[in-house]
Amino acid sequence: MLILLTFLSLTSSEPLSLLSPSDLQITLNSLSNPYLSQAVGSNCGASNVYKISGVDANPWPPTPGMSGTLTMTGVFVQGTFVQEIVLGTCYNSMVWNYDPVDINQSYPTGDEVIFKMAVVFPNEAGSYLTNIQITAGVHICCWQFSYTIS
Ligand SMILES: *[C@@H]1O[C@H](CO)[C@@H](O)[C@H](O)[C@H]1NC(C)=O
Repeated sequence: MLILLTFLSLTSSEPLSLLSPSDLQITLNSLSNPYLSQAVGSNCGASNVYKISGVDANPWPPTPGMSGTLTMTGVFVQGTFVQEIVLGTCYNSMVWNYDPVDINQSYPTGDEVIFKMAVVFPNEAGSYLTNIQITAGVHICCWQFSYTIS
């Protein structure tokens, strides 16, 4: 099975916002530091195109203001052209903030694809709800997890 790893470098002063699309890379058969991370969250959307098996967050719980990684693993049970990956964050149950990064790539049926995102966790104390979605015309998947910064 072909494994693709997409690395998105994300950093900013804003909670979990994505950096520029130019930092997108694809590597074959590599998964760095699978330890020190923890499977978090649950499915919150469709799974008939990209079926997510899980998301690992590292470090967990998040260290305030420090960088970390989110690694989403899944299989394209139906091949499609992926437009973007979107990281959504909701702070203290208020408004959602969405941060998209272009992917613009086709994935064939049966490919296991790992999306690895470098993030900077927020500094501000409070409760956070984060979701990861992929768009191919519509949102084809959703994975959501929550955490607290104190
Ligand atoms: C992705 O495709 C869209 C629509 O064609 C285009 O506007 C955008 O610049 C592309 N992004 C990248 C990073 O290639």
